[in-house]
Amino acid sequence: MSDIPKHIAIIMDGNGRWAKEKGCSRIHGHKAGSSRVREIVKCSGELGIKVLTLYAFSTENWKRPKDEVKALMELFLHYLKNEIKYLHSNNVVFRTIGDIEVLSSDLKKEIENAVSKTKNNTGLILNIAVNYGSRSEITRAVNNIIKKGLIHITEKDICDNLDTANLPDPDLLIRTGGEFRVSNFLLWQIAYAELKITPIYWPDFDENVFKNILEEYSLRERRFGGVNE
Ligand code: FPP
Repeated sequence: MSDIPKHIAIIMDGNGRWAKEKGCSRIHGHKAGSSRVREIVKCSGELGIKVLTLYAFSTENWKRPKDEVKALMELFLHYLKNEIKYLHSNNVVFRTIGDIEVLSSDLKKEIENAVSKTKNNTGLILNIAVNYGSRSEITRAVNNIIKKGLIHITEKDICDNLDTANLPDPDLLIRTGGEFRVSNFLLWQIAYAELKITPIYWPDFDENVFKNILEEYSLRERRFGGVNE
Protein backbone atom coordinates (compact mmCIF):
# COMPACT_ATOMS: atom_id res chain seq x y z
CA MET A 1 0.00 0.00 0.00
CA SER A 2 1.48 3.33 -1.03
CA ASP A 3 0.11 5.86 1.44
CA ILE A 4 -0.48 4.49 4.92
CA PRO A 5 -2.16 6.87 7.39
CA LYS A 6 -0.03 7.69 10.44
CA HIS A 7 -3.04 7.94 12.74
CA ILE A 8 -6.38 6.17 12.32
CA ALA A 9 -9.32 6.84 14.63
CA ILE A 10 -12.29 4.46 14.70
CA ILE A 11 -15.83 4.87 16.03
CA MET A 12 -16.69 1.21 16.65
CA ASP A 13 -20.44 1.45 16.15
CA GLY A 14 -23.14 -1.11 15.40
CA ASN A 15 -22.58 -3.71 18.14
CA GLY A 16 -26.19 -3.38 19.32
CA ARG A 17 -27.75 -3.66 15.85
CA TRP A 18 -25.47 -6.59 14.97
CA ALA A 19 -26.71 -8.41 18.06
CA LYS A 20 -30.37 -7.50 17.51
CA GLU A 21 -30.27 -8.88 13.96
CA LYS A 22 -29.02 -12.15 15.39
CA GLY A 23 -31.67 -12.17 18.11
CA CYS A 24 -29.02 -11.73 20.83
CA SER A 25 -28.55 -9.19 23.62
CA ARG A 26 -26.70 -5.90 23.06
CA ILE A 27 -24.07 -7.14 25.51
CA HIS A 28 -23.41 -10.12 23.24
CA GLY A 29 -22.78 -7.57 20.46
CA HIS A 30 -20.24 -5.72 22.59
CA LYS A 31 -18.48 -9.02 23.35
CA ALA A 32 -18.25 -9.79 19.65
CA GLY A 33 -17.01 -6.23 19.06
CA SER A 34 -14.35 -6.61 21.69
CA SER A 35 -12.94 -9.68 19.92
CA ARG A 36 -12.48 -7.60 16.75
CA VAL A 37 -10.14 -5.22 18.53
CA ARG A 38 -7.19 -7.66 18.57
CA GLU A 39 -7.43 -8.33 14.82
CA ILE A 40 -7.42 -4.63 13.93
CA VAL A 41 -4.63 -3.86 16.42
CA LYS A 42 -2.50 -6.67 14.95
CA CYS A 43 -3.14 -5.57 11.38
CA SER A 44 -2.40 -1.91 12.21
CA GLY A 45 0.94 -2.87 13.77
CA GLU A 46 1.87 -5.01 10.76
CA LEU A 47 1.01 -2.22 8.32
CA GLY A 48 3.23 0.28 10.16
CA ILE A 49 0.41 2.56 11.32
CA LYS A 50 1.77 4.73 14.15
CA VAL A 51 -1.39 5.46 16.15
CA LEU A 52 -4.75 3.69 16.39
CA THR A 53 -7.39 5.46 18.48
CA LEU A 54 -10.51 3.44 19.32
CA TYR A 55 -13.68 4.98 20.79
CA ALA A 56 -14.65 2.46 23.47
CA PHE A 57 -16.84 4.52 25.82
CA SER A 58 -18.02 8.11 25.57
CA THR A 59 -18.92 10.63 28.27
CA GLU A 60 -22.51 10.23 27.01
CA ASN A 61 -22.51 6.41 27.20
CA TRP A 62 -23.23 6.59 30.98
CA LYS A 63 -26.86 7.25 29.91
CA ARG A 64 -27.16 3.62 28.74
CA PRO A 65 -28.89 0.99 30.92
CA LYS A 66 -26.87 0.16 34.04
CA ASP A 67 -26.24 -3.45 33.04
CA GLU A 68 -24.89 -2.38 29.63
CA VAL A 69 -22.51 0.16 31.21
CA LYS A 70 -21.36 -2.50 33.68
CA ALA A 71 -20.80 -5.01 30.86
CA LEU A 72 -18.79 -2.49 28.83
CA MET A 73 -16.54 -1.71 31.81
CA GLU A 74 -16.07 -5.43 32.50
CA LEU A 75 -15.22 -6.08 28.86
CA PHE A 76 -12.58 -3.38 28.93
CA LEU A 77 -11.11 -4.80 32.14
CA HIS A 78 -11.17 -8.28 30.66
CA TYR A 79 -9.52 -6.98 27.47
CA LEU A 80 -6.69 -5.37 29.46
CA LYS A 81 -6.08 -8.43 31.60
CA ASN A 82 -6.05 -10.74 28.61
CA GLU A 83 -4.27 -8.64 26.02
CA ILE A 84 -1.50 -6.93 27.94
CA LYS A 85 0.91 -9.80 27.34
CA TYR A 86 0.15 -9.80 23.62
CA LEU A 87 0.38 -6.00 23.39
CA HIS A 88 3.69 -5.86 25.22
CA SER A 89 5.29 -8.70 23.28
CA ASN A 90 4.20 -7.03 20.05
CA ASN A 91 5.89 -3.75 20.98
CA VAL A 92 2.56 -1.88 21.32
CA VAL A 93 2.40 1.27 23.46
CA PHE A 94 -0.89 1.31 25.37
CA ARG A 95 -2.50 4.67 26.22
CA THR A 96 -5.92 6.10 26.97
CA ILE A 97 -7.63 9.42 26.36
CA GLY A 98 -10.61 10.65 28.36
CA ASP A 99 -11.18 11.22 32.05
CA ILE A 100 -10.28 7.94 33.74
CA GLU A 101 -10.55 9.35 37.29
CA VAL A 102 -14.20 8.27 37.64
CA LEU A 103 -13.56 4.65 36.58
CA SER A 104 -13.47 1.83 39.13
CA SER A 105 -10.22 1.41 41.03
CA ASP A 106 -9.75 -2.06 39.45
CA LEU A 107 -9.99 -0.65 35.97
CA LYS A 108 -7.79 2.34 36.75
CA LYS A 109 -5.16 0.03 38.22
CA GLU A 110 -5.20 -2.19 35.12
CA ILE A 111 -4.97 0.86 32.82
CA GLU A 112 -2.05 2.30 34.80
CA ASN A 113 -0.30 -1.06 34.74
CA ALA A 114 -0.75 -1.40 30.95
CA VAL A 115 0.43 2.18 30.34
CA SER A 116 3.53 1.84 32.50
CA LYS A 117 4.43 -1.65 31.25
CA THR A 118 4.32 -0.60 27.59
CA LYS A 119 5.58 2.98 27.80
CA ASN A 120 9.05 2.22 26.42
CA ASN A 121 7.81 0.14 23.49
CA THR A 122 8.38 1.61 20.05
CA GLY A 123 5.63 0.11 17.88
CA LEU A 124 1.98 1.00 17.35
CA ILE A 125 0.42 3.39 19.88
CA LEU A 126 -2.95 1.90 20.82
CA ASN A 127 -4.98 4.74 22.23
CA ILE A 128 -8.30 3.77 23.81
CA ALA A 129 -10.87 6.52 24.32
CA VAL A 130 -12.70 5.73 27.54
CA ASN A 131 -15.04 8.13 29.33
CA TYR A 132 -13.99 10.35 26.45
CA GLY A 133 -15.88 13.31 25.02
CA SER A 134 -14.28 15.97 22.89
CA ARG A 135 -16.09 18.87 24.56
CA SER A 136 -15.02 17.63 27.98
CA GLU A 137 -11.43 17.22 26.72
CA ILE A 138 -11.33 20.75 25.27
CA THR A 139 -12.84 22.16 28.48
CA ARG A 140 -10.21 20.36 30.58
CA ALA A 141 -7.50 21.67 28.24
CA VAL A 142 -8.72 25.27 28.59
CA ASN A 143 -8.83 24.93 32.39
CA ASN A 144 -5.24 23.59 32.36
CA ILE A 145 -4.16 26.57 30.30
CA ILE A 146 -5.85 28.99 32.73
CA LYS A 147 -4.09 27.24 35.64
CA LYS A 148 -0.76 27.79 33.90
CA GLY A 149 -1.54 31.52 33.76
CA LEU A 150 -1.33 31.90 29.97
CA ILE A 151 -3.11 34.98 28.66
CA HIS A 152 -2.56 34.87 24.91
CA ILE A 153 -3.04 31.31 23.70
CA THR A 154 -2.05 29.71 20.41
CA GLU A 155 -3.37 26.63 18.61
CA LYS A 156 -0.25 24.83 19.83
CA ASP A 157 -1.15 25.64 23.46
CA ILE A 158 -4.53 23.98 22.91
CA CYS A 159 -2.96 20.93 21.19
CA ASP A 160 -0.42 20.59 24.00
CA ASN A 161 -3.14 20.49 26.64
CA LEU A 162 -5.46 18.01 24.96
CA ASP A 163 -5.33 14.32 25.96
CA THR A 164 -3.77 13.68 22.54
CA ALA A 165 -0.78 15.99 23.20
CA ASN A 166 2.27 14.81 21.22
CA LEU A 167 0.21 12.60 18.91
CA PRO A 168 -0.27 13.47 15.24
CA ASP A 169 -3.84 14.40 14.24
CA PRO A 170 -5.83 11.51 12.74
CA ASP A 171 -5.43 11.22 8.97
CA LEU A 172 -8.44 8.98 8.69
CA LEU A 173 -11.59 8.68 10.79
CA ILE A 174 -13.57 5.48 10.23
CA ARG A 175 -17.09 5.02 11.56
CA THR A 176 -18.66 1.59 11.33
CA GLY A 177 -22.43 1.01 11.47
CA GLY A 178 -23.38 3.55 8.80
CA GLU A 179 -24.38 6.62 10.86
CA PHE A 180 -23.23 10.00 9.50
CA ARG A 181 -22.09 11.73 12.67
CA VAL A 182 -18.93 12.24 14.72
CA SER A 183 -20.47 11.80 18.20
CA ASN A 184 -18.22 14.16 20.19
CA PHE A 185 -15.07 12.32 19.05
CA LEU A 186 -11.77 14.19 18.52
CA LEU A 187 -13.55 17.33 17.26
CA TRP A 188 -10.41 19.49 17.35
CA GLN A 189 -8.09 16.80 16.01
CA ILE A 190 -10.16 15.71 12.96
CA ALA A 191 -10.12 19.16 11.34
CA TYR A 192 -8.45 17.73 8.20
CA ALA A 193 -9.05 14.00 8.64
CA GLU A 194 -10.45 12.01 5.74
CA LEU A 195 -13.79 10.48 6.73
CA LYS A 196 -14.96 6.97 5.92
CA ILE A 197 -18.40 5.78 6.98
CA THR A 198 -18.97 2.10 6.34
CA PRO A 199 -22.34 0.38 6.83
CA ILE A 200 -20.55 -2.68 8.22
CA TYR A 201 -21.22 -3.23 11.92
CA TRP A 202 -18.14 -3.27 14.14
CA PRO A 203 -18.38 -7.02 14.99
CA ASP A 204 -18.14 -7.73 11.23
CA PHE A 205 -15.25 -5.31 10.64
CA ASP A 206 -12.36 -7.60 9.73
CA GLU A 207 -8.86 -7.22 8.34
CA ASN A 208 -10.07 -7.34 4.71
CA VAL A 209 -12.61 -4.57 5.19
CA PHE A 210 -9.93 -2.53 6.97
CA LYS A 211 -7.38 -3.04 4.19
CA ASN A 212 -9.93 -2.09 1.51
CA ILE A 213 -10.62 1.17 3.33
CA LEU A 214 -6.89 1.85 3.49
CA GLU A 215 -6.59 1.23 -0.28
CA GLU A 216 -9.40 3.73 -0.86
CA TYR A 217 -7.71 6.23 1.47
CA SER A 218 -4.45 5.94 -0.45
CA LEU A 219 -6.26 7.19 -3.58
CA ARG A 220 -7.67 10.29 -1.92
CA GLU A 221 -6.12 13.65 -2.63
CA ARG A 222 -5.51 15.57 0.58
CA ARG A 223 -5.18 19.31 0.12
CA PHE A 224 -5.48 20.68 3.69
CA GLY A 225 -7.27 23.74 2.34
CA GLY A 226 -4.64 24.39 -0.34
CA VAL A 227 -4.41 23.40 -4.00
CA ASN A 228 -2.39 20.59 -5.52
CA GLU A 229 -0.76 21.53 -8.82
C1 FPP B 1 -21.23 1.37 19.87
O1 FPP B 1 -22.16 0.40 19.45
C2 FPP B 1 -20.18 0.74 20.65
C3 FPP B 1 -19.88 1.06 21.94
C4 FPP B 1 -20.57 2.14 22.69
C5 FPP B 1 -18.85 0.33 22.67
C6 FPP B 1 -17.66 -0.11 21.89
C7 FPP B 1 -17.00 -1.15 22.69
C8 FPP B 1 -16.41 -2.27 22.21
C9 FPP B 1 -16.23 -2.54 20.79
C10 FPP B 1 -15.90 -3.33 23.13
C11 FPP B 1 -14.95 -2.93 24.20
C12 FPP B 1 -13.75 -2.21 23.75
C13 FPP B 1 -12.48 -2.59 23.97
C14 FPP B 1 -11.38 -1.68 23.61
C15 FPP B 1 -12.14 -3.89 24.52
P1 FPP B 1 -23.69 0.61 19.80
O2 FPP B 1 -23.99 -0.12 21.04
O3 FPP B 1 -24.02 2.06 19.89
O4 FPP B 1 -24.37 -0.05 18.57
P2 FPP B 1 -25.79 0.35 17.94
O5 FPP B 1 -25.60 1.72 17.33
O6 FPP B 1 -26.00 -0.70 16.92
O7 FPP B 1 -26.78 0.31 19.05
